[in-house]
Amino acid sequence: MFHAIYFYVYPSVGTFMSDSIILEYPNGISKKSIIKGMYKKLLYRYNDMQLEPENIRIIAIVDDFYSQDEAEAYLIKYPIKQTRMSFSVQWHFTKVCNQRCVQCYLGSEQFHGMLDENELSEQELYEVVDKFYSFCNMIQASPVFVLTGGHPLLSPKLKKILSYIDNQYRKKGWLANIFILGNPQYLEENIDMLEAHNVDSYQISIDGTEKMHDEWRGKGSFSASMRALDLLKKSTISPKIMSTLSKKNAEDVINLYKLLCEKGAPFFAYSRLVPNCSEKSANYFDEHFTGREYRDFLEKMFNVILKMREQGYTTQFVYKDHLWKPFLAEKGIWNFDERYGNDRNTMLIYDGCHINQDSLCIGTNGNVYACMKTESYLGNIREQSFEEIYTCSRAEYFRNYEKYEGCNVCGYKQYCRGCHAVSYGVYGDFYKPDPQCWFAERLFKQNEEGEA
Ligand SMILES: C[S@@+](CC[C@H](N)C(=O)[O-])C[C@H]1O[C@@H](n2cnc3c(N)ncnc32)[C@H](O)[C@@H]1O
Ligand code: SF4
Ligand code: SF4
Repeated sequence: MFHAIYFYVYPSVGTFMSDSIILEYPNGISKKSIIKGMYKKLLYRYNDMQLEPENIRIIAIVDDFYSQDEAEAYLIKYPIKQTRMSFSVQWHFTKVCNQRCVQCYLGSEQFHGMLDENELSEQELYEVVDKFYSFCNMIQASPVFVLTGGHPLLSPKLKKILSYIDNQYRKKGWLANIFILGNPQYLEENIDMLEAHNVDSYQISIDGTEKMHDEWRGKGSFSASMRALDLLKKSTISPKIMSTLSKKNAEDVINLYKLLCEKGAPFFAYSRLVPNCSEKSANYFDEHFTGREYRDFLEKMFNVILKMREQGYTTQFVYKDHLWKPFLAEKGIWNFDERYGNDRNTMLIYDGCHINQDSLCIGTNGNVYACMKTESYLGNIREQSFEEIYTCSRAEYFRNYEKYEGCNVCGYKQYCRGCHAVSYGVYGDFYKPDPQCWFAERLFKQNEEGEA
């Protein structure tokens, strides 16, 4: 039989291209074999790039054409609709979870509304997908679905959402990336289903080495995460490992990174703790990094990254926290002017926190937030469109960078802006400076000294 395949190739980190191909193979062969077959053909097509099978990601396969001509006619009828820009929606479609992690923001007061019983019905889930595609089509962006919870694998809704996106859109050339943020448990019994739906990546949170991780997430969670990592590495779904970093587990996160290098995890990143959680966690996280202390941590982490690289480990450390940028710039490793042009006078935002730029978040009941980690309710997708929500006056609040204290007078404003969800968590004020930014800390110390 002939099969029409839509796919992405990733010639280098951060860049991708979409394409399609027709392949003849018998039904029932593994996805890895399909990719092998594609690879052989694509080597000719992309002879100017160093293509590896790992750089090919299948987005959708339309099966069972009797001839090449029939498959070609299909691809002409449904050409690829895809643009360079992307827009992501982090969709907490289920609140069901098998863990009770100490840091979890879903236990915080601001999301009690989201975790109510008034969950979106099956039909409403599909409407969310339709509305999101319609919005992305309007702004000429490729949709990115970040499906999460809770634990997505515990909800039958996951399969429904994936099937709908596949059948209504991805198999008709409207490509989209699908990332899942989930827990390690029950992956084994679901991995075939996730592969069949061409899920791009599956993120597991690991918050330290075994003792610390299990203290945060429950006994046995660490070993389950290691098993899940091994399973994903053997599959066509890219494993992503994410830690939540606080002063409490900082040393442990460094040790975890070393361990993951040894285990051959392809990606590792961390996000800073946003202290916005339950009362229980407020007591547990009794101390937070100061700016100076956080910079010392970055220095230590960076030296370990260099050392592991020198030793030949290939785990890619993802510099996710925006405060890496000023750190690397201070060291002369990252030159913004070379990268983006010396254009400090414009209002253009090149990088840094994405809040309300190219992403939105949805809760189980359709509530839409600018960011899941801070109080940022914007509207409800049941009653409104993404366009309305994205452009409402409350949404503008998060894009008003002139009000971001510290950042508004900082040379890194266009590329960083730290994390003001942390500001909100610590001070109850989103516009206050990021408490872990050493630049802002210095600036405000100088001001205080000036006033004294
Ligand atoms: C809410 S969870 C949902 C997915 C899945 N249950 C998990 O734990 O990875 C998504 C991510 O948010 C992180 N997270 C939860 N509460 C946080 C907080 N207060 N500050 C920073 N990250 C947090 C989790 O550790 C996890 O990496
Ligand atoms: S597993 Fe994820 S969603 Fe569940 S409690 Fe932990 S952080 Fe929250
Ligand atoms: S003041 Fe803001 S933009 Fe400047 S380094 Fe700190 S967080 Fe980044």
